[in-house]
Amino acid sequence: MLIKKPDDIKGSEITRKGDQESFLSRRTFLRGAALAATAAGTAWLYRRLAFPEAVTQSGEKIGGVKVSQPPIREALTSLEDITHYNNFYEFSTDKDAVASKARNFVTRPWTLEVGGLVHKPRTFGIEELLKLHTQEERIYRHRCVEGWSMVIPWVGFPLASLLSEVQPMSGASYVAFQSLADRKQMPNVSTDILDWPYVEGLRLDEAMNSLTLLSTGLYGETLLPQNGAPLRLVVPWKYGFKGIKSIVKITLMDRQPPTTWNIANDHEYGFYSNVNPQVDHPRWSQATEQRIGVFGRRPTLMFNGYADQVASLYTGMDLRANF
Ligand code: MTE
Repeated sequence: MLIKKPDDIKGSEITRKGDQESFLSRRTFLRGAALAATAAGTAWLYRRLAFPEAVTQSGEKIGGVKVSQPPIREALTSLEDITHYNNFYEFSTDKDAVASKARNFVTRPWTLEVGGLVHKPRTFGIEELLKLHTQEERIYRHRCVEGWSMVIPWVGFPLASLLSEVQPMSGASYVAFQSLADRKQMPNVSTDILDWPYVEGLRLDEAMNSLTLLSTGLYGETLLPQNGAPLRLVVPWKYGFKGIKSIVKITLMDRQPPTTWNIANDHEYGFYSNVNPQVDHPRWSQATEQRIGVFGRRPTLMFNGYADQVASLYTGMDLRANF
């Protein structure tokens, strides 16, 4: 996902189909080979599938997390991969470098401004948000437009519960999101690789769907900077780039808001960005995906496997035109 090529981007980091596939298959092959070679590897995989291991990250434990959905029967992606294979262009375009470049990102204090077409516009402190909303664990598939996927035990609360608090007006039909853009802390915000701040959008009914989360953590602890601390969006039936990180502003609107990747390249990245194995990206097929840490490619599921809950949102729409 890259349009302009600044000097600091290594050639190997620019998404080209061949490069990406060979990188992913090399990475997966090495892991897969190491695992397949040992009975211990098989047992490890089984344990990850049946009983996710207790793992720790350096965030803080989130208290009183409610497990609100039966976990999907797929192995969780390791904490190491979730926190060290990231897209967060404000810090780096190198997925393996985001964690270290974002290490000292300051996420407290933090405020979220919610306004636009609402009856009760309000600015929330992050601690207040954590107190106001019961934190839930939701294990979701996470499918990147680039062709890799993960399974992540997010912690967060439904976006719908925040929106209900500010009371959208009848004319509100879209929700716009904006990330922090801080030149002092985020090295790439001084470059023109993307337009800053990073922005995203949803239709109001997508935002109100009970699957849509504002995430505050994963694996039971507060988010680390590389995953979008202290607050990021998770929309599990859409490609990962809709999951805007480190959100500072949410605005209810009467028209479709601009989105960063659509501004960068509207031919490749549409507003909807629903996971759809039948609609290829202009440069590669979306029919299969590489689950990070698992050997072999798997078929990509329509709406990332969430069709039962979300297909009705798009009844009558041409999903090729509205990609
Ligand atoms: N949000 C901001 N602010 N900046 C970004 O560069 N990258 C997006 C999305 N949210 C991005 C962002 C992309 S391309 C993806 S795939 C996901 O974050 C990656 O989330 P993860 O690193 O937690 O897996």
